[in-house]
Amino acid sequence: MDRPKICVIGACNLDLISYVPRLPRMGETLHGDRFHMGFGGKGANQAVMAAKLGGEVAMVSKLGRDIFGENTAENFKAMGVDITHVHFTEQAFSGVAPIAVDREGKNSIIIVTGANDLLTTEEIEDARPVIAGSSVLVFQLEIPLEITLAALRIARQEGVSTIFNPAPARNKLPDEFYQLSDIFCPNESETEILTGMPAGTIKEAEAAARVILERGARTVILTLGERGSLLVLDNETSLVPVKQVRAVDTTGAGDAFVGSLAYFMAEGKPLAESMKRANQIAALSVQASGTQTSFPLREDLPPELFV
Ligand code: RIB
Repeated sequence: MDRPKICVIGACNLDLISYVPRLPRMGETLHGDRFHMGFGGKGANQAVMAAKLGGEVAMVSKLGRDIFGENTAENFKAMGVDITHVHFTEQAFSGVAPIAVDREGKNSIIIVTGANDLLTTEEIEDARPVIAGSSVLVFQLEIPLEITLAALRIARQEGVSTIFNPAPARNKLPDEFYQLSDIFCPNESETEILTGMPAGTIKEAEAAARVILERGARTVILTLGERGSLLVLDNETSLVPVKQVRAVDTTGAGDAFVGSLAYFMAEGKPLAESMKRANQIAALSVQASGTQTSFPLREDLPPELFV
């Protein structure tokens, strides 16, 4: 059987994660408990997640010609991700993300996107055949807006389904982003930034999701952490719950969800079923440290996830 084909356009970062008793206050120096360095960047994480599940995944991105960039490319190869459209530049360092994770597994992240910002529209156009050959295309907001938009336009022209993960969120996102998104997939805080509305309760989240639909998205899937994920369509709302677990590190949990969602959608599973399976995989990821290192491999998952 053909493997589900997924293309991800987005950023690669090197994650520098400090595990701390609590997040530091302004001007404070704090002792951390331990440190972890690993491959990250929302786009890279989502690509690796889909590949770990067995997807045929292509990444479109830009790395610095430095040790982080070289190692990131090697990591993609080891994970079976196609890097034909992963470019290198001498003009900037690879993206980095210093991250602090507290004892409840909650994080705060700084991204310095570096080489990711230098991806060009010509390089996106070069990737058109790989985009056109994919069942699902996945995007985030860690590369320049016009580059993401160029890729979204190609996907629509080529009739490829899109999952847009608007992270990190911006409060003034052009309407075209909504109109070109088949699945618009933010978390609660991103939803609040995008809409200016509260999204703390399910009712509030649904109302905010309806504003996103009015702006032109076809479907909204809102990730709600330990409450699961919320599917909002024109004529339907359903909450897909998730099993409660003890989180040690939530970094990349949203990416585990989006990468898994892309995989199951590309496999042809219905939306609610894809969400249920993606919820389960994201819940497993928060129980281990690191970003991509916390994503489970297909062979370590229950076989019923793949029937
Ligand atoms: O979503 C988690 C990711 O956000 C990290 O890997 C970090 O690099 C930032 O992009």
